[in-house]
Amino acid sequence: MSFGVLTSHAESVDFEAKVLPILKERCFDCHSKEHVDEKTGKTKKPKGKFRMDSPEMMKKGGADGGDLTPGDPAKSTIYTSVTLPDSDDKAMPPKGDRLSKEQQDLIKQWIAEGANFGAWKGAAD
Ligand code: HEC
Repeated sequence: MSFGVLTSHAESVDFEAKVLPILKERCFDCHSKEHVDEKTGKTKKPKGKFRMDSPEMMKKGGADGGDLTPGDPAKSTIYTSVTLPDSDDKAMPPKGDRLSKEQQDLIKQWIAEGANFGAWKGAAD
């Protein structure tokens, strides 16, 4: 018997299987180590001085800090920013569709459960 991911009986969220793919697709482009974009050939620096491409960097946060507070989604801007309406300057990602409610809830649950990164190490430097 299986329960939906968001029921109160949900198993804890597997970061690499559920959360990382969302961040890779929707956030890493602007929040990774400085790199040359393959398509445009332009150098991309991490926006807001915030890198999300390793657990250490995500916990360290960016210019304003407080980007990931394990156990407290309300104090984690990586969650609160994705729930803001498009019209808000701080809404993330700033381009494209909003994350779906299901994606937002996965991020929220993962943070509430302590933001366990499992075996994921991300970028080495
Ligand atoms: C198209 C580029 C782009 C994408 C994609 C993007 N961001 Fe951002 N992000 C920015 C820019 C630019 C800033 C800094 C200026 C600002 O605050 O609006 C920023 C700032 C932030 C900050 C504040 C950092 C700090 O400490 O000041 C957080 C948190 C954040 N983004 C989270 C996310 C998350 C989570 C995603 C994916 C769901 C995401 N961003 C996707 C461009 C992007």
